[in-house]
Amino acid sequence: MALFQRKENRTAGQVDMSRLPRHIAIIMDGNGRWAKQRGLPRTAGHKVGAETFRRIATYCKDLGVEYLTVYAFSTENWKRPMEEVSTIMGLLKQYMLEAIDSMERDQIRLRFLGDLSAISPELQALVDRTNAISEHIHGFQANVCLNYGGRDEILHAARECAAAGEEITEENFSRHLYSAGIPDPELIIRPSGEVRLSNFLLWQCAYSEFYFCDTLWPDFDERELDKAIIAYQKRDRRFGGVK
Ligand code: FPP
Repeated sequence: MALFQRKENRTAGQVDMSRLPRHIAIIMDGNGRWAKQRGLPRTAGHKVGAETFRRIATYCKDLGVEYLTVYAFSTENWKRPMEEVSTIMGLLKQYMLEAIDSMERDQIRLRFLGDLSAISPELQALVDRTNAISEHIHGFQANVCLNYGGRDEILHAARECAAAGEEITEENFSRHLYSAGIPDPELIIRPSGEVRLSNFLLWQCAYSEFYFCDTLWPDFDERELDKAIIAYQKRDRRFGGVK
């Protein structure tokens, strides 16, 4: 009952629950600026950003969204100071350790998208454990992009398709993407005022609706997600055709 009331309050009845996007993808941007505005180290912004991810993932699941994909660490993010990289990796480790204990109870599947060969053996082992648990879960799926780049993903798929000697069709190609089996996101959100894609889901975004807002990721909340979904529901999606 409490959960039901919370949901009603959060959505203020404006989200059309019968036309939710199945898959929402988010570029979790603005952590550094959020911290700087408060005179804190950038890493403090990532810590709060990780909390925001937990909160938004829970909200997506409660709403009935099937997939949430977040950009946690790009193939370009290795250029950041070592301390920042290790903080982000530490937050991912902490999240995976928590998930190992809670994902079965919460019925949350977890998948990591990206070139995982470059992450530490410790994180790789945790990814393997969460994958094994996810196999038994049928429900909401959170996808975390880790050492992910859209171009890298496309090259990886092209190489695999060629190595398998397969005909290059959209269907065959998609089966070799990191996102194989996951429907394309209907809605891609980028907070923090930046209006670019930054190498995120380049193949999958072909017909996604984009939503940009100025809120920094650590301040992003359920109400902001509602606004994005409401904006999405007002869009006229024609997929290149006419109505
Ligand atoms: C972009 O903001 C954010 C990142 C590169 C890292 C995002 C990672 C997390 C929130 C932690 C991952 C945790 C989990 C559990 C998924 P920015 O640093 O580029 O912000 P700025 O543009 O203001 O500098």
